[in-house]
Amino acid sequence: MTKNGKTILLTGGAGYIGTHTIIELDKAGYNIVVVDNLINSKEEAIHRVEKIINKPIELVIADVRDKQRMNALFDTHTFYAVIHFAGLKAVGESVAKPLEYYENNMNATFVLLDVMRTHHCKNIIFSSSATVYGDPAMIPITEQCPKGHCTNPYGQTKSMLEEVLSDLQHADQEWNVVLLRYFNPIGAHPSGMIGENPNGIPNNLMPYITQTAIGLRPELGVFGNDYPTHDGTGVRDYIHVCDLAAGHVAALTAIDRQCGLATYNLGTGHGYSVLDVIKAFEKANGIKVPYSIKPRRAGDIATCYCDPQKAEQELGWKAQYDIEDMCRHSWNFQTKNPQGL
Ligand code: NAD
Ligand code: WQD
Repeated sequence: MTKNGKTILLTGGAGYIGTHTIIELDKAGYNIVVVDNLINSKEEAIHRVEKIINKPIELVIADVRDKQRMNALFDTHTFYAVIHFAGLKAVGESVAKPLEYYENNMNATFVLLDVMRTHHCKNIIFSSSATVYGDPAMIPITEQCPKGHCTNPYGQTKSMLEEVLSDLQHADQEWNVVLLRYFNPIGAHPSGMIGENPNGIPNNLMPYITQTAIGLRPELGVFGNDYPTHDGTGVRDYIHVCDLAAGHVAALTAIDRQCGLATYNLGTGHGYSVLDVIKAFEKANGIKVPYSIKPRRAGDIATCYCDPQKAEQELGWKAQYDIEDMCRHSWNFQTKNPQGL
């Protein structure tokens, strides 16, 4: 037993955000159990976290859709809360394989919620996304901003699962449901031992930048320079993954207060364009990133950054790292792990 004695189940806890969250939960004194089918992660990531926190982690290699395994897990543990990271997340792949995305993300959540209910564990933190705002109706985006149209099945699963969780909480007020809408997580643990480890050609900006900088890709394509932004390239709210991880510990305080249903944006509140990020990366690391301007990417929006005040006021959480820290830590992970984990 650690200092607060509460045990948290992390579904998908071997992934990028999950591994960083384990470290923050451990610092705060929680016990941790991870369930992951390793479809987009490696057991090695958990071993690296074990080295960082200097203690073993209980990893159950199982699919969250496997009700028998999940029931067995809940039969043998008492969980205070579940942080539900497990899901498929590649936007482009979700357009090509909608059934696989709907099936995995929806069914995993249905099985999880049913097993939780059966075992009287009714506290859940859900990994949602800024993608639920679609092309946002306001900038900066507050939690009051209406949800928008998601242009891809991945985003639809997040939006639909928010509705499922809200309906569940309305039907049974014993549930505490925290919907965390992440903006654009980048960066890595300062040790460089864990970080984002994409399979194949990266879809997201930062892993593409680090793979270009290290020579794995000849150049970065900047998708469009004719958006209505300060330099024509897309503007996003990049957040250090360690800050995002700390946001989950803060969200547990909402559950402690029996929050019912609560939604929070997790971002910094600052918008950086693609060219701003390239410049910050070059400055932080003293290395050039070759790039050229390409056509816009289908489904992209011009600007997306949040107003993070609600999380600060209600959870006492605020992002600490700046864009250069994010760039330095992403590069540190890339150089220490040139072929990934
Ligand atoms: P990730 O792919 O690194 O982690 C997700 C983990 O879930 C992986 O380890 C994968 O193996 C596991 N998983 C998937 N389906 C599973 C299943 N059926 N059973 C068991 N394990 C399963 O992704 P991440 O970046 O760490 O994202 C975590 C969560 O946050 C996801 O739900 C993602 O959609 C959401 N999110 C991510 C971002 C981002 O930019 N990274 C932004 C917004 C929201
Ligand atoms: C950022 C900016 C691109 C790659 C996605 C998901 C979202 C969330 C986070 C999960 C944009 C530009 C990118 C490249 C580029 N994930 N870009 N060249 O699209 O804001 O959000 O990840 O929930 O749902 O949609 O992030 O990193 O792909 O793009 O110019 O090679 O970088 O056009 O302006 P995005 P991203």
